[in-house]
Amino acid sequence: MSRPFRRYSAGARLYDVLSGERWVYRAGRVAGIELMGLRSGDVVLDLGCGTGLNFPLVRAAVGRTGHIVGVDRSADMLAVAWGRVRREGWSNVTLVEADAADLDAGDVRARVAAATGSAGGVDAVLSTYALSVMRDGATEAWARAVDLVRPDGVLAVVDMQPPTGRWRIFSPLARLACAVGGADIRARPWRLVARDADPGSVREVTVRGGHIVTAVGRLPGEDASATGS
Ligand SMILES: C[S@@+](CC[C@H](N)C(=O)[O-])C[C@H]1O[C@@H](n2cnc3c(N)ncnc32)[C@H](O)[C@@H]1O
Repeated sequence: MSRPFRRYSAGARLYDVLSGERWVYRAGRVAGIELMGLRSGDVVLDLGCGTGLNFPLVRAAVGRTGHIVGVDRSADMLAVAWGRVRREGWSNVTLVEADAADLDAGDVRARVAAATGSAGGVDAVLSTYALSVMRDGATEAWARAVDLVRPDGVLAVVDMQPPTGRWRIFSPLARLACAVGGADIRARPWRLVARDADPGSVREVTVRGGHIVTAVGRLPGEDASATGS
């Protein structure tokens, strides 16, 4: 078992309080989810969902007719996420315990189809502060998630880098926070959005002195896939 995995098992119940959510990291998820332009009824895959801190924001955007699929490999983080779902009384959340790099697309499609009565496709994938923790598995995890997203669907990554400009004085603090969380601060996983999305659709926003980068884009539409452009 790798170190980050143990960290997110033992620390699951304290994660929401100790992760710097209130002062630093909430700003990134708010910016990212706003930029996604989610609509009522959308199905959203939250890759490395942890304790479900994105869920209230996503649920507010997709409403009761939408659906959230949270994937995480830590049963303890998912247990906290389930607590949140139960407390809120949401019936439109599916949690999948899996290593995202081994995610079984057929299984996820079947679960979404059973829960929503649809064909099991996903309208958007979102990953916040998780791909930098997945390290070597991040590219494969991302590819598996993107495979589930329909043409013209939304891709969103929110992750960390050292602060920029005059905020660089906080770099040691940012590096420490990432080291404690097992994240690679040099990973820059939002580049995957620019790689896979329609180039004209990609938007990037940085918050908290450049420490948090949000990238959102759309997959090419059906026409582009059909013509191979
Ligand atoms: C820093 S937490 C972020 C959680 C959540 N996305 C958030 O914004 O608060 C990183 C999460 O990634 C999960 N994770 C790490 N490697 C993973 C993998 N290979 N597959 C699935 N989840 C993974 C951890 O269990 C943890 O819950």
